[in-house]
Amino acid sequence: MCGIVGYVGSKDALPIVLAGLKRLEYRGYDSYGFCVLNGKPFLFKQIGKISENSDNFDHVKGNVAISHTRWATTGEVTKENAHPHSDCKEEIFVVHNGIVENYKELKNNLIGEGHVFKSETDTEVIAHLIEKYFSGNLEEAVKKALKEIRGTYGLAVISTGDPEKIVVARMSSPLIIGVGVDEFLVASDPSAIITHTRQIINLDDGEIAVLKKAGFSIFKEEKESQKQIETIDWDIEQAEKGGYDHFMLKEIMEEPNTIEDAIRGRLILEDGNVKLGGLFQVEEKLRGINNLLLIGCGTAHYACAVGEYMLEDYASIAGETDIGSEFRYRKPIVNKNTAAIFVSQSGETADTLAAMREMKEKGILTLGITNVVGSSQARETDAGVYTRSGPEIAVASTKAFIGQLATLAMLTVYLGRQREMSVVTGKRIVSELVNLPNLAREILGHREEIKNIAEKYKKYRDFWFIGRKYNYPVALEGALKLKEVSYVHAEGTAGGELKHGPLALIDENCPTIAICPSDSVYEKMIANIEEVKARKGKVIALATEGNEEIKNIADDVIYIPKTLEMLTPLLSAIPLHLFAYYMAAVLGRNIDKPKNLAKSVTVE
Ligand code: AGP
Ligand code: GLU
Repeated sequence: MCGIVGYVGSKDALPIVLAGLKRLEYRGYDSYGFCVLNGKPFLFKQIGKISENSDNFDHVKGNVAISHTRWATTGEVTKENAHPHSDCKEEIFVVHNGIVENYKELKNNLIGEGHVFKSETDTEVIAHLIEKYFSGNLEEAVKKALKEIRGTYGLAVISTGDPEKIVVARMSSPLIIGVGVDEFLVASDPSAIITHTRQIINLDDGEIAVLKKAGFSIFKEEKESQKQIETIDWDIEQAEKGGYDHFMLKEIMEEPNTIEDAIRGRLILEDGNVKLGGLFQVEEKLRGINNLLLIGCGTAHYACAVGEYMLEDYASIAGETDIGSEFRYRKPIVNKNTAAIFVSQSGETADTLAAMREMKEKGILTLGITNVVGSSQARETDAGVYTRSGPEIAVASTKAFIGQLATLAMLTVYLGRQREMSVVTGKRIVSELVNLPNLAREILGHREEIKNIAEKYKKYRDFWFIGRKYNYPVALEGALKLKEVSYVHAEGTAGGELKHGPLALIDENCPTIAICPSDSVYEKMIANIEEVKARKGKVIALATEGNEEIKNIADDVIYIPKTLEMLTPLLSAIPLHLFAYYMAAVLGRNIDKPKNLAKSVTVE
């Protein structure tokens, strides 16, 4: 949800952490702050975006610093509520990602013990708890304090009373350690430190680390943890905009590569099969599965919904899709033949993680379809498949959606070939997956036409998106994309649902985007388009190349190449991503960082 960057070493800490913080702003940006130790602390907090700060901090020296960008969960967006938070004596400083669920009770107890609070946040109780237990050793005090806390945290703590170190701790909110020479960093996201070091260590839940210039130690429940140092293989330019105006457009333009990266080395053309190394150790268990739960939030949920159709059609497995925030509180009917698939770009979405942990609790096999390597979902599920979509910086998820769909298609072949799917069918799907990236490039080659359509419809404030079967979830995705980046109201619905209510809203002021490739439900979609036209509604049709008749009834047509029905969502989503982008651009929106939203929703 938000960002943490810390540094301890032989260099001046502040320039390093500020550079890292700027790279993390997309994760949550209502306020920010930092603290540098150099004998006495230098504390700075501000609301707004760090990239808009013009203060000169050249005079601020010191080799130990922590910093934070905040996405508020508890307490208004104010300077006082910005992090770092300190204890009564302003000697201990804390930055925190997550939520302290029992902060009210802790705060009342601490006030009763004489502590004076300066902010409304939950985080501040952590600083005062550490103060309560501090007697010279910072990590000991942190350990004792954390025993009283219920909730989630990615935490970095420094103290003038034990000034040569940063103590960090992780519980359900990502934290990594950057390993340098005589210097160590802590961050909530690799992109904050990639220009400084590519050697990282992912902390696990319950782990506490002590970082000093001379070295670091990591322990969990008093035992030293032996951790692997991983190398980040993202180039910094990958996370730059690559010449496009916005990360969102860059990431849409990467969608063909996303498919290529997802399938690379995983297709066995001659056998009409796939190999998914991440499922190797559960391969036999998967043979016995006859019921699949598919759980995700937002765009990832829509990918799950497409996956349900794929698995039903081609792997003959019953699927049930739900959103993480609902599923986590349900009493799902599960048994030993049930497996649960969790789909998440960030691998840190609190609701999806909670649903996953609930299934683990019940002993259900959990699989993750995740983009971020080493993320909580990736590490806590029993097995899984990385989508390999690379860093997705824009808040609006685009290429990650395509990567999720490609991975679900491969999973469908994998499970189908364990069951009744023939080698012929497997070959047909696998060979079409190989074709898809170039078909996607064809769509992107026509993006100017989509830009013109967005320009033509820029005055409308309400849109319907309709689709059927595989493209019903794509209609929902198209509506979400449009509303989240352009702030134009948009709703998705199944084509067959129009007559059950939505038609009441159709008129000349409410255009409809109809996803109607030449597939098994094409005629039904044409009937829906007629229903809209009969009410003077304008229609933008997404149709298969070569379909001339559609021009007679739709006001505008966007073409996509022909492909297998189960793979059309990997193509039909692309024009909808572009339409949302160009509408937001023509309306002058903050496309990569839409208001009120954050890239990774790591709080409930
Ligand atoms: C999609 O454009 C949104 N940014 C949002 O719905 C997102 O898909 C959702 O928060 C899930 O994120 P995840 O894939 O990282 O779990
Ligand atoms: N719960 C803390 C606050 O509201 C941290 C929020 C965040 O993760 O940025 O300040």
